[in-house]
Amino acid sequence: MTQAQYREQIQEPEPLPFTPEVDARTRDAYERVKHVIPASEWPLFAPEVDAIRRLKRACNAIILAHNYQTPDIFHGVADVVGDSLALARRAAETDAEVIVVAGVHFMAETAKLMNPDKTVLIPDPDAGCSLASSITGADVRLLRQAYPGVPVVTYVNTSAAVKAESDVCCTSGNALQVVEALGVPRVIFLPDAYLASYVASRTTVEVIAWHGKCEVHEQFTADEVAAIREGTEGLVVIAHPECPPDVIAAADFAGSTAQMIGYLKSERPGRVLLLTECSMSDNVAAEAPEVELVRLCGLCPHMKRISLPKIRQALETLQPEVRINPGVAARARAAVERMLALS
Ligand code: 13P
Ligand code: SF4
Repeated sequence: MTQAQYREQIQEPEPLPFTPEVDARTRDAYERVKHVIPASEWPLFAPEVDAIRRLKRACNAIILAHNYQTPDIFHGVADVVGDSLALARRAAETDAEVIVVAGVHFMAETAKLMNPDKTVLIPDPDAGCSLASSITGADVRLLRQAYPGVPVVTYVNTSAAVKAESDVCCTSGNALQVVEALGVPRVIFLPDAYLASYVASRTTVEVIAWHGKCEVHEQFTADEVAAIREGTEGLVVIAHPECPPDVIAAADFAGSTAQMIGYLKSERPGRVLLLTECSMSDNVAAEAPEVELVRLCGLCPHMKRISLPKIRQALETLQPEVRINPGVAARARAAVERMLALS
C-alpha cells in the first residue's frame, strides 16, 4: 500500500476500556509519569499503553522514541529513547523484526537505512521537519557544482535523497567531531544555518552553510533569555545548537538533546531553562521532579503528530511502512555509516 492510500483509509482507532486488569498491568508506567500526568487522565493512556505492549510482543517489535515524544510514549511504551544519534546507533543494533519510530520521518528513514530488510513503521507519515523540507537532492548537486571538491556534511535532519548526495552525515551531538575528522580546510554544511554557525564558531575549518532553520528553535531570542535570567536567581540555561547564535551565546551550555540531559545529570542544577521542544522538559520533570524547570519552550508540530493510538494502529496494521528507493538508500546509508564510523 502506498502512503497516499494509507492516508485515505486511516481512521481514528476506537478508544479502549480502562479495566482493573489494565490498571494493574500499567502501574509501572504510571509510577514513571505520575509527576507530569494527573491520575484523573491516566485512564485515557493506560489502555493504549497496555495494548501497545501486547502488540510489541506479538510482532517482535521495538519502539524507538525521540526525546521530544510526550511522556506517555517516552516513559510508557518506548524501548529505546534518545537523540537522533542514539536512535540511529540503536536502530543499527536491534534484532527486532519490526521497528516503530516514534519521531519524525527522517528518523524513520534513518532506521530503515540501517535495516533495509526489516519492517520500519512511522505512525504518521506526515511527521516532517522544517530542516528536512528546506533542501532537496538537486540543491546539493548545485552546491557541489558551485564548490567543486568540497565535501558535503549533512545533518541527519534531511531526506534520504539529500543524504544520498552527501559525503557524510552528522547530528547535533557529533557535528563538530565529524567536520574536524575530515581533515579538510573547507566543508559544505547542510541544511541548518544555525548549527553551521555553531560549528564554525568552534573550528578553524571554513563552513559553507545552507539557509535551513528549525521552526521551533529559531523562535527563541536572546532578549527573552536575558529577561528570564534577570528575574530568576541561580538559573542555568541550556540550549540546543539549532537555536540562533545569540541565544547559544546567552546560554551556559549547548548540546544535542541527549547532551542536554547528560549535562543535567552530571551538573545537577536546581533551576533550569531548557531552550528546546516542550516535551523534553516534561520527560525530565517526570524523572527528576526535584529540578525546577523554568518554562519557555516550543512545540514541534511534527513530533506531536505521533500519539499512542497511532502507534497502536501502526502495530495492528504494520502500516505505514517506510520505503526508500534502493539506489538512493545505498548511497544514503554510506553517508550515515561514515558518520557512525567517525564519531
Ligand atoms: P537531537 O539529535 O539533538 O535529538 O535533535 C533532533 C532534533 O530534531 C532537534 O530539533
Ligand atoms: Fe525538525 Fe525542529 Fe521539529 Fe526537530 S524540532 S523535528 S529540527 S522542526
